[in-house]
Amino acid sequence: MTRLDWLSQPARALHGSVRVPGDKSVSHRSMMLSALAEGRSHIRGFLEGEDTRATAAVLQKLGVRIETPSAGERVVDGVGLHGLRGTAEALDCGNAGTGMRLLAGLLAGQAFDSTLIGDESLSRRPMRRVTEPLAAMGARIDTQDGLPPLRVHGGQPLKGIRYTLPVASAQVKSALLLAGLYAQGETEVIEPHPTRDYTERMLAAFGWPIEFEPGHARLSGGHRLRATDVDVPADFSSAAFFLVAGSIVPGAELRLPAVGLNPRRTGLLQALRLMGADITVEHERESGGEPVGDLIVRHAQLHGVELPEALVPDMIDEFPALFIAATAAKGRTVVRGAAELRVKESDRIATMAAGMKAIGANIEETPDGAIIDGGALRGGEVDSHGDHRIAMSFAVAGLVAQGPIRIADCANVATSFPGFMELANGCGFELRTDG
Ligand code: S3P
Repeated sequence: MTRLDWLSQPARALHGSVRVPGDKSVSHRSMMLSALAEGRSHIRGFLEGEDTRATAAVLQKLGVRIETPSAGERVVDGVGLHGLRGTAEALDCGNAGTGMRLLAGLLAGQAFDSTLIGDESLSRRPMRRVTEPLAAMGARIDTQDGLPPLRVHGGQPLKGIRYTLPVASAQVKSALLLAGLYAQGETEVIEPHPTRDYTERMLAAFGWPIEFEPGHARLSGGHRLRATDVDVPADFSSAAFFLVAGSIVPGAELRLPAVGLNPRRTGLLQALRLMGADITVEHERESGGEPVGDLIVRHAQLHGVELPEALVPDMIDEFPALFIAATAAKGRTVVRGAAELRVKESDRIATMAAGMKAIGANIEETPDGAIIDGGALRGGEVDSHGDHRIAMSFAVAGLVAQGPIRIADCANVATSFPGFMELANGCGFELRTDG
């Protein structure tokens, strides 16, 4: 991939309406379940990001016909639970941990072998968290010392298990539930803290009998998935950058229409409100079985907080953005219980700490979080390490820094938020490619 650097400059005020793209988690799952369903499903609001397109391309390689009538729209001709066809070609999940981990579960139940590969960042991410419980179900998956590529052996009879997740992870839970579709008996997943329940909700919408409540899900193998249309809400994690930007830029007022507000995703909203943010929700409604609403954010003076640990899983992707909010806050913000950040697209604690120090922020890294004291940002050069959310977070920091912030390695923003720069500049960011 060609290297792409950005320059983010101080901005005056942010105004306008920002329509962020479709939810990444929901888009991945809509593609997988439509592919395994019987009949034709129509997906609207599908995220045209590299991650979700990689999942669609994998399913196409496995024999699923997918049409794209227009951007954000997919028509999927499901092949049924046993209709996928094997391929000798490697299946490339790109940068997507969600794609690879969920597909590992789905492919464990097939009659054929498959190989899942990913980019440099994905190739460093831990896979034992899925391969070990899948092995307990009878799957055979080879890793490279716990890392991708994953070689999934087909033709293994699976049996349901009762599994208590050691770490809260929707990806692991979902991988087990997808393998559970092919397993004999009951698959039951218990979580130490509830995580996003899109797989459970969507399985139910596709007609699969499933029992679930926060922290617990249970299903049996041997049923069928019925094609179902899916409306994908706008991604709260993409809206997050604008919630922070609108909070910290004096005079800002932004409206973010139709954002998904699944409570397992909106931890940042609570965190920012604890910090004194002015964010309101209008027109709360339900769309495609998910709560959505319009978010309105206005500038407010934030203050530091000790972030309640219980919020961590509900905002697991939002810490880079929160760290920037903390620099704009008066006083100290303390984050604990977030060691999972070290195994995301990059080590997000280390990458954020290095970048924030480079632009003059006061941050102390801890094993499972950080201590951040609010204060002025000087500007300077940071490296996103190819991590999309870190690149966008520093673009937000550039709005309030005293000088420009040069952000290296931003191409991966396209994995989750294609068109970020245009949308950002449309409401007042001063962001451009550099070099
Ligand atoms: C996701 C779950 C989370 C999150 C990721 C998307 C999902 O990962 O960080 O961006 O769609 O299930 P973990 O399950 O590893 O926490």
